[in-house]
Amino acid sequence: MVPPDMARANDNPTGGGVAAAAHANPVEGSPVYPLGSRVNELGHLEIGGCDVVELAREFDTPAYIYAEDDIRARARAYLDAFHSRTDDFEVLYASKAAPITAVYRVLAEEGLSVDVASGGELHMALRAGFDPGRVYVHGNNKSEAELREAAEAGVGYLILDSFDEIERAEALLERPQDVLIRITPGIEPSTHGYVQTGGLDSKFGFGLEDGLARRAIETVRRSEVLRLVGLHAHIGSQIFELEPYVRAIEALAELADSEIGILNVGGGLGIAYVSEDEPPSIEDYVDVKVRGMARLFDPVPRILIEPGRSLVGNAGITAYTVGTVKEIPSVRTYVAVDGGMSDNLRPIIYGARYEALIANRAADVPDTSVTVAGMHCESGDILVRDALVAAPAVGDVLVTPATGAYGYPLANNYNAVPRPPVVFCKDGDARLVVRRETYDDLVARDV
Ligand code: LLP
Repeated sequence: MVPPDMARANDNPTGGGVAAAAHANPVEGSPVYPLGSRVNELGHLEIGGCDVVELAREFDTPAYIYAEDDIRARARAYLDAFHSRTDDFEVLYASKAAPITAVYRVLAEEGLSVDVASGGELHMALRAGFDPGRVYVHGNNKSEAELREAAEAGVGYLILDSFDEIERAEALLERPQDVLIRITPGIEPSTHGYVQTGGLDSKFGFGLEDGLARRAIETVRRSEVLRLVGLHAHIGSQIFELEPYVRAIEALAELADSEIGILNVGGGLGIAYVSEDEPPSIEDYVDVKVRGMARLFDPVPRILIEPGRSLVGNAGITAYTVGTVKEIPSVRTYVAVDGGMSDNLRPIIYGARYEALIANRAADVPDTSVTVAGMHCESGDILVRDALVAAPAVGDVLVTPATGAYGYPLANNYNAVPRPPVVFCKDGDARLVVRRETYDDLVARDV
């Protein structure tokens, strides 16, 4: 965690002017970085108006850094896209993507509802200020305690996932509860197998092909306390095609009747992790879903979507400090940073690709191919294979963009590394919203 090499960055006050011209701007207009990111006059990366090199000094590294306005802009893009097409909709934040109090608060302020997938997420969402009536409780194995907590909080909706859960909920709920039933519509979009959820062979929900979905509907309709108001389907995550959503809506239409007033058609819109990625726009994604509903239903039920990644993924970056540069002639150069699989598990579990940028020389030509390695005792702890960056040196601040979703929640204490802080930037002001863990935190639960 060496402070960045400011001296060298400042030695050249033109910020590598020639290089900057040759490589005009790696950040502005990039689909990968938060909206409003730029390279400032010092040649430093700027996020939410804050100089990332300064942030690294102030908050140390590694650190998750979010541009608050990026999250707000994407929430508004979803709401605006719906508003121009229908009045009867709700956008839920799938909070597993970044269960951070400050993120819950921002999205509650923007008028979103929330999807929680555990008692812990429920606790955080309520504490951050979500109206319980706008909370949707997911999970393929909600415990009795979680169901009780949800009922006591007066949550709006439970999404029922199995026959055992239907029984469990019936046995312990004392007041009528609105519920949706999760359907697995038999659709497998092209994405990583680990994040496909809509196929018949899935641990989630009730299959359509095997008739379980219809049986679940009948079972819930016989219940005294469970009030079936809607159906739900989420077919997977990091999806770049739009057509599978239409098929999912068609599948739900087979089951829905006039008493189904709500269709929750899930999240899943992919984001750009690297510059070549071209995910559909929020506008097109909403358009396909709304048109699909309008074509298949009369009257059209209320449409719900629950994006996670596409609200927060590109809003966040991770800043690291380069600690060692190991050149293996004719093989590769390893650049080791002060984090790794403890703050970003996605490369190791999904083979996810990222870009890297040297934040203190952000305008320099990225002419050096390196492999960004983590600091953990595991050869597989590689954050970015074959990244093209400006020749890195010890002390540089290296960032990986697009880490705003499923970075923080998958973080862990491998090698007893304290988890990084979360910093929110807006209009040039930085505020710490989650502090870094300490060594004391590592033993705080010992008894
Ligand atoms: N709704 C349900 C029921 C879900 O299971 C998920 C994500 C979402 C909505 C939000 O999907 P999104 O809009 O974020 O694609 N850890 C993996 C992603 C797991 C997604 C789990 N479910 C990753 O890092 O790629």
